[in-house]
Amino acid sequence: MERRDFLNNVGQATAFLCAGRLLASCSKSDDNPGPGPGGGSGGSAKLTANLNSELAAVGSSKINGNTIVVRTAAGNTASSFVALSLVCTHEQCIVNYDAADNDFKCPCHGSQYSITGAVNQGPAAAALTKYTVSINNNVLTVT
Ligand code: FES
Repeated sequence: MERRDFLNNVGQATAFLCAGRLLASCSKSDDNPGPGPGGGSGGSAKLTANLNSELAAVGSSKINGNTIVVRTAAGNTASSFVALSLVCTHEQCIVNYDAADNDFKCPCHGSQYSITGAVNQGPAAAALTKYTVSINNNVLTVT
């Protein structure tokens, strides 16, 4: 009877350990697939605007984070807008859009950029990063 009890206990302990290992390996594999499927198809728009109610006037702009889109011409086509990063290429300060001068000015060291992001005045040597504008059903998307 003692021997039977001993064997039962060993069997139960072994089963418990195996189940534990099985669960541990399952949880590891469950961690990996989670982010994968959702990440690729969700899109990565930096900014969106409804052209039925936003960005109507030439010179108007919309900012989301460090991204700006400016209307540069009439008409709801992608070429009527420019989308840029607001991060100065000199030392990464945030530039300001000056609608009156139709350009961007950096408050840190005085760099100035044209409305297309090209450097007009240093010390910055490289243009602002330009993003892609697309329009579908009057919804503008910057990517
Ligand atoms: S960080 Fe913009 S000019 Fe220096």
